[in-house]
Amino acid sequence: MEVTPYLLFLLFTVYLLAVTTADDRAAMLALAKSFTPPPSDWSTTSSTGCCTWSGVRCTSESDRVTSISLEDESLAGDLAPEVSTLSELKSINLQGNKLSGTIPSLAKLNSLREIYLDSNLFQGVEPGAFAGLTSLRILSMRDNRNIFSWSFPSGIADSTSFTTVNILGLSYNNITGVLPPSLAKSSIQNLRVNDQFSGLSGTIQVLSGMTSLSQAWLQKNQFTGSIPKVLTSLPNLQLIDLSNNNLTCDIPMFSATVAFIYKPDNLLLVDSSGPGIASDSNDDILISLGWDFYC
Ligand SMILES: *[C@@H]1O[C@H](CO)[C@@H](O)[C@H](O)[C@H]1NC(C)=O
Ligand SMILES: *[C@@H]1O[C@H](CO)[C@@H](O)[C@H](O)[C@H]1NC(C)=O
Repeated sequence: MEVTPYLLFLLFTVYLLAVTTADDRAAMLALAKSFTPPPSDWSTTSSTGCCTWSGVRCTSESDRVTSISLEDESLAGDLAPEVSTLSELKSINLQGNKLSGTIPSLAKLNSLREIYLDSNLFQGVEPGAFAGLTSLRILSMRDNRNIFSWSFPSGIADSTSFTTVNILGLSYNNITGVLPPSLAKSSIQNLRVNDQFSGLSGTIQVLSGMTSLSQAWLQKNQFTGSIPKVLTSLPNLQLIDLSNNNLTCDIPMFSATVAFIYKPDNLLLVDSSGPGIASDSNDDILISLGWDFYC
């Protein structure tokens, strides 16, 4: 029989399908082995049925893994680097476990929309781990205090991801350095970088260009400089917490609908005699500043 190009193409397609499915199974087996212990219904000897494991969801046609959700499962061990081959993965949620080691690269997982790695014991992040995530909406990795010291996640900062990410949650870590200038072009609505152990530094000027910004949690850092006047005209801003930084006191004048909340030592006090204070509970912008800033 003559092997036509069409037949070759068919064979190649079948081969590709087999390979991609096999890859997900290999990766799932590696993941099962890297968790100690894995969830009780996960197997460390065969991943043929991985689509029925707890917390795992697959596409119905081809058994490609689309979601891994193992929140608060007391998982220790680490996260196998093979996770980077799950090319149909849309969501990974491993928050509230005891995973350690280095967060492996998730770069180029183009389907990935949500990453939740909060409250674990990770000690490092693979460089460029979040590069090229063109579908990413949520990156949440608060409270990984065992990561000794890191800068704003590279890859996120210099990639196109910033045009898709809506929620960036990096609070309670030890991220040092400055806010990357690329934030200005981002679509971030909810920016949480508060409570860094040593503190982010530099100015907060970059916020001026973040027109999608709705909530900005920047308290407990080492930010210096002034509070940009244009923040008063960010169209979607509802809350900005700048407490416990080293910002200057030239507080921009906000309209009557804007409330300032002063928050010394994290005790919520409303000072009704300050500039631009409104008692109106419909205030659409909250500005919170610490007492301990330089005047
Ligand atoms: C946080 O990072 C700073 C700067 O690299 C370092 O000096 C400090 O020891 C780190 N703190 C913790 C708790 O890891
Ligand atoms: C911020 O203020 C604290 C307390 O006065 C000081 O120790 C620290 O060096 C200041 N940081 C910067 C970046 O100016």
